[in-house]
Amino acid sequence: SQRTLVLLKPDAVRRGLIGEIIGRIERKAGWTISALEMRELSQETLEQHYGEHKGKPFYEPLMGFMQSGPVVALVVEGERVIEGLRTLAGPTDPIAAAPGSIRGDYGTIVRENLIHASDSEESAIREMKIFFPGLA
Ligand code: GTP
Ligand code: MG
Repeated sequence: SQRTLVLLKPDAVRRGLIGEIIGRIERKAGWTISALEMRELSQETLEQHYGEHKGKPFYEPLMGFMQSGPVVALVVEGERVIEGLRTLAGPTDPIAAAPGSIRGDYGTIVRENLIHASDSEESAIREMKIFFPGLA
């Protein structure tokens, strides 16, 4: 099976949606949470995580937003969980996200879209090393 790295962003924590989002992940048959931690992110950690977006117009505001409060980091394990969590999250822009998806149900603006989920197997491995370096 696969593993993916999920972040519940500061807006999810502020709005009291940790339980709601984790509940949706837990209720999905066959998925298991294999690591979980609440933490504030350093500039260095965020640069590693979102380095692909450096230089884009939304990069600096994104960095500020991601440091506006604690996040919850999780590793979720299961069959095709990378694709599955991207579907559960919905598209980046909450307005374009279908009702039923996390961003579609709770998202407001594109920057404050509640959740991150790795977009490929390669990203998942890279991101899990950033947030859970001790994980086997
Ligand atoms: P992540 O799971 O957070 O990586 O989101 P994503 O994979 O759906 O989107 P992407 O990696 O392209 O962008 C990372 C994050 O930057 C998004 O989740 C948004 O918070 C923000 N972002 C992306 N595109 C835009 C944009 O056009 N405008 C603004 N304001 N923010 C953006
Ligand atoms: Mg992304």
